[in-house]
Amino acid sequence: VPHLLGIKYINEADIQLIFETADHFKEIINRPIKKVPSLRDITIANLFFENSTRTRLSFELAEKRLSADVVNFSAAQSSVKKGETLIDTVNNILSMKVDMVVMRHPNPGAGVFLSKNVKASIVNAGDGAHEHPTQALLDSYSIRERLGDVAGKNVVIVGDILHSRVALSNIFALKLQGANVKVCGPKTLIPKYITSLGVEVETNLQKAIEWCDVANMLRIQNERLDISYFPSTREYVQQYGLTKPMLDRLDKEIVIMHPGPINRGVEITSDVADSEQAIILDQVENGVAVRMAVIYLLASKIK
Ligand code: CP
Repeated sequence: VPHLLGIKYINEADIQLIFETADHFKEIINRPIKKVPSLRDITIANLFFENSTRTRLSFELAEKRLSADVVNFSAAQSSVKKGETLIDTVNNILSMKVDMVVMRHPNPGAGVFLSKNVKASIVNAGDGAHEHPTQALLDSYSIRERLGDVAGKNVVIVGDILHSRVALSNIFALKLQGANVKVCGPKTLIPKYITSLGVEVETNLQKAIEWCDVANMLRIQNERLDISYFPSTREYVQQYGLTKPMLDRLDKEIVIMHPGPINRGVEITSDVADSEQAIILDQVENGVAVRMAVIYLLASKIK
């Protein structure tokens, strides 16, 4: 059964195929009639065991624009609260003839675990601090759209690298496509293994933005932070908050990205987030086309 569990499990040719397919779907969803009949015979369950706004709505819209039947499951309102296990939950849902499961879960490896225990195509919509593959795909797609290509570009990922599935999936995706990648943040929020992935560490944000073509500003994940890891929010803002004067000091215009949700005034100020050089809402727009491509390509292998 085909899955998308992480960027770690795919290759550069897979990424290019997803992007070419997403180009096609992006053109379609900008037409007055945004829908295609491609997946009329496919049923997809979106299982969210953790909060989400963008990913959840984006997957649901992508599925509906492909004409799939869609059911949504939120753990907070389900029998998980009565003690039902993940495998029992999913197998009960699959008994209702579901072909594909899109799952967000707080535990790293939840998608891989599920793929080994149930007979359905699994798409990882974020598993703890492990991977968020469709986020990395839409991020690279958005860089390609703004700068023409990902290969050879200097990309810095700023912030809480330690707890970030977005950082890990982006590192895998960017390296596969030939980008140069640095991470930037307090040493306490950068895991030691990161250099083994071919990534350089820069602890000075001004130097990092002088080097880069693209800065991807991550959210500080207060829900995953042990306070001992962390400089205070005020210290973080002083050292790693991206502001307009910092960008104005550069002799070039860099592209600003953020996966959302934004902590305005922490990792990024509002005037930067809302500026022309930020492509944050383009990322969200592209997420629907990229997820349509992922689902379409997986479904074409099921049927
Ligand atoms: N970027 C992202 O995953 O946002 P949500 O948590 O709102 O889905």
